[in-house]
Amino acid sequence: MRLFGRTMTAAAVLVMTTSISFAEDVEVLHWWTSGGEAAALNVLKDNLGSAGTGWVDMPVAGGGGEAAMTALRARVTAGDAPTAVQMLGFDILDWAGEGALADLTATATAEGWDKVVPAALQKFSTADGSWVAAPVNVHSTNWVWINKAALDATGLAAPTTWDELVAVLDKMKEAGITPLAHGGQPWQEATVFDGIVLGMGGGLYQKAFVDLDPAALGGPEMAMAFDHLIKLRTYVDDNFSGRDWNLASAMVINGEAGMQMMGDWAKGEFLKAGKVPGTDFVCIRFPGTQGSVTFNSDQFAMFNQTDPAAQEAQVAMAKAIMDPVFQSAFNVVKGSVPARTDVSNEAFDDCGKKGMADLAEANTAGTLFGSMAHGHAAPASVKNATYDVITAAFNGEYADGAAAAAALAEAVAAAQ
Ligand code: BGC
Repeated sequence: MRLFGRTMTAAAVLVMTTSISFAEDVEVLHWWTSGGEAAALNVLKDNLGSAGTGWVDMPVAGGGGEAAMTALRARVTAGDAPTAVQMLGFDILDWAGEGALADLTATATAEGWDKVVPAALQKFSTADGSWVAAPVNVHSTNWVWINKAALDATGLAAPTTWDELVAVLDKMKEAGITPLAHGGQPWQEATVFDGIVLGMGGGLYQKAFVDLDPAALGGPEMAMAFDHLIKLRTYVDDNFSGRDWNLASAMVINGEAGMQMMGDWAKGEFLKAGKVPGTDFVCIRFPGTQGSVTFNSDQFAMFNQTDPAAQEAQVAMAKAIMDPVFQSAFNVVKGSVPARTDVSNEAFDDCGKKGMADLAEANTAGTLFGSMAHGHAAPASVKNATYDVITAAFNGEYADGAAAAAALAEAVAAAQ
């Protein structure tokens, strides 16, 4: 055989065939590229490795996963879909609707996933009664991460209301640090806005972001939410534009900034930096949202493959993801909480224990909402239209909150 201009022996061909045969490997497209995310990813890689499945990495940097989803579309269009893909909420349902996803129902049924995965997650793991994704975690977005020393220096308690929050931010400003660490990217502004709108009440969140009710989207409560967002803009530093979320986390970790409003993947950065909850940093629910949770769940969807060995590797990966021991180990590092209800909170730190308790409480109380910012409230077209208005509002493009709310109602109507 001649290959690359060289004559190969039969033995060499055999070796080459073996080494390029990725039959037992999974190629995984994901956006876990920050320090904390990579540490969590390694737990998954190791778990798969010990089950005999190899890993071919396809990282696409960009928090929130927009860039990853663009890369995915290009791969699928080229007829070269990756084996497994990290995906959120409505994106999973969209791909399932296109018939692109492998059916995991046989594995799910054999392993009893339906008994341990909360219904709110199953809504996105299943399509037309079939399992199309395996959930690895539950994150929530209505959190604030505060540098403990900076909070202590204000002489104030951790804020539980909007007014208390503003008082703490003002004191931090007086003390000469950047009160709010923020990265100026649409998904990050949307993540902050998740917390603000939830703080106006779960009723508004549901009506506006899930039901897409024009009156709620354009009404006085939404106007006030935008006024709050515009106010928060006054607490960020001059270099916020385009900053990655993990660099904003680093500002809080280093004491350069007072707090960050971000999902609990931020905790992964604090832990990676050796910081301890309660000692070095404080985790609180976004002021006014204790008792309610806006969640997003990272799930792995498997793209249709014809090679039986590749299909086998997909099943192995799905099983590895759903293993309860793995779900504890992974989520302790990632900052999220398990996607199964039967995993003990024992290994989790105080913020993780709080995350698990808050999730269970919200689930029972009917105050658990899919995150608008992370694709669990509405399909991508609506999400993107919402992002545009939120970012424009943050950057002062509307006269006031009422004008921003009116623009939001219009944009969401046009996007449907
Ligand atoms: C994902 C997290 C990820 C974060 C930042 C979110 O959409 O759910 O897993 O850490 O984006 O990249």
